[in-house]
Amino acid sequence: MAPETLVEIDRHRVRELTEREEKRLDERTPGSRALFERARRTLSAGVASSYQLRDPWPIYLSHGRGARVWDADGNELLDFHNGFGSMVQGHAHPAIERAVTERYPQGTHFAAPTEDGIVVAEELARRFGLPKWRYTNSGSEATMDAIRIARAHTGRDTIMKIFGSYHGHHDYVMVSIGVPYENIGDREDYASLPYGAGVPQSVADLTVAVPFNDAGAAERRIERLVEEGHPPACVIMEAAMMNLGVVLPEPGYLEAMRELTRRHGIVLVFDEVKTGLCVAPGGATERFGVKPDMVTLAKTLGGGLPSGAIGGTDEVFEVVENEQVYQVGTYNGNPLSMAAARASLLEVLTPEAYEHLDALNEHILAGCQAVIERYRLPGYAVGVGAKGCVTFSPAKIVDYETYKENQDGELCDLAWLYNMNRGVFMTPGREEEWTLSVVHSFEDCDAFVAAFEEMAADLTA
Ligand SMILES: Cc1ncc(COP(=O)(O)O)c(C=O)c1O
Repeated sequence: MAPETLVEIDRHRVRELTEREEKRLDERTPGSRALFERARRTLSAGVASSYQLRDPWPIYLSHGRGARVWDADGNELLDFHNGFGSMVQGHAHPAIERAVTERYPQGTHFAAPTEDGIVVAEELARRFGLPKWRYTNSGSEATMDAIRIARAHTGRDTIMKIFGSYHGHHDYVMVSIGVPYENIGDREDYASLPYGAGVPQSVADLTVAVPFNDAGAAERRIERLVEEGHPPACVIMEAAMMNLGVVLPEPGYLEAMRELTRRHGIVLVFDEVKTGLCVAPGGATERFGVKPDMVTLAKTLGGGLPSGAIGGTDEVFEVVENEQVYQVGTYNGNPLSMAAARASLLEVLTPEAYEHLDALNEHILAGCQAVIERYRLPGYAVGVGAKGCVTFSPAKIVDYETYKENQDGELCDLAWLYNMNRGVFMTPGREEEWTLSVVHSFEDCDAFVAAFEEMAADLTA
C-alpha cells in the first residue's frame, strides 16, 4: 500500500485507548493482582522468568484445555500465546495425556536412555534429514551445546549471529539483541553488546553480529574475520526471524548463507527452537529447502514438557562421539518428556495437522490483512506455518534496523490489551507473534480478527 493512502495515527487517541483498556484489564484481574502481591514476597518480582513480568501485575493462569486457557479470575481466553510457541498441540491433548499417564507409573527419571528417546531421534532424523541427535532440556541448552560442538569441530572460538536475534539466555548468545539502537554501530561492523548485566564483555566479544537478509554484509564480515585470524566456528541463525515479529528470509538469502558458510568451513546452525515442528514437519529446514549442518529444537518438541534437541551431520557429531565434547545433562532425554515428544510427533503433529495449521494461518493472516486495508492502517500481516503477526510499520521490516526504525510499539501494546480484554490470550512484548495450535478452529481465528477490527475501528473513529 502506498504510504500516502495510510491513515494518520492519532497519538492522543492511542494513549486514550491504552489507558481505557489498561483500566479494563486491571478491573478484570483482581485475582492476579492478589497472587502477585503474595508471589513477590518469595518469588523474585513475582514471576518464574523475567519474560513473565508485566506492569502493574502479570496475568496468572490456572489451567488450559484445547485452544483455551483460564486465568486466576476465571476469565476464559482463546490461547494464541501457546507458551511462547510451545503448545502447537493445544493444551492437555488426549494423545499426550495418555502417553504421560502411561509413563508416570513406570518411573519418570533414570538418567539412562529409554526406547522412546530412540524413536524420537529416528523421527527427527527423518523430518530434518540430519542423521545424529542429542537431547537437552531447553532451547538455551540446545544452542549452547550446538555452539560448543561447532567450536570443537572447527577449532575456532569466534561465532557469528544475526543482530537482534534471540537464541536463549546463556552468555555466548546474550549479545546484540534488544540493545539501545544508538549503540549498535555501523551495519558493516556492528558492536558486540551484552544483553543485560552479568555477561562479560570478553565473552560478548567472541560473538559477532551481522544483519539479517544481507548475505553480502555477512560475507564481508567473515572475510575480515578471516584476515584478522578469527574465522567463525558457526553462524547461528533463525531461517525466519521470530523475535522481531515474523521476518521471512528474502529470496536467495538462505541459499547464499549456505554457500558462504560452506566455502569458509563454517558450521551453519539453524536455531529452530521457534520454527522447528511449527512451520512444517521438518521445520524451516524443510519449508525453505536449505539444509544446515545443525539444528536446535525445543518448545514444541516436548508437547508442554521441558525438552530440547540438537541435530547434526555425522561430521559435526564426531567430536561428541569421540568424547572431545561433553554433551551432557542429568535430565537429557528424560523419559516423561520423551514419551510426550513421541506421542506428539507420531500422533499429533501429523501431515494433516500441518495442513490444518497452514489453512488456519492463511485464514487469520487474510483476515488481519483485510482489516489493515479496510482501515488503512500502517502495517501488514505476515506469517508462516503456525506463526504469524500483524507488523505495525509503514515499511517492510527485513532486519533489526528496519524494525527499530519503523515498528510502532504503541500500537503493539494496544493490540495486546484489546486482545486480553476480548478473550484472546496473546504473547506480551512487541517482538512476539501468535502461535496457532492443531486444535484451533477457523472460528477461533475469526475471534482474533474481530478483536483486531474493534481496535482498528476505535483508532480511526
Ligand atoms: C529462537 C530461540 N532460540 C532459543 C530460545 C531459548 O529457548 P529456552 O527459553 O527454552 O531456553 C528461544 C526462546 O524463546 C528462541 O526463541
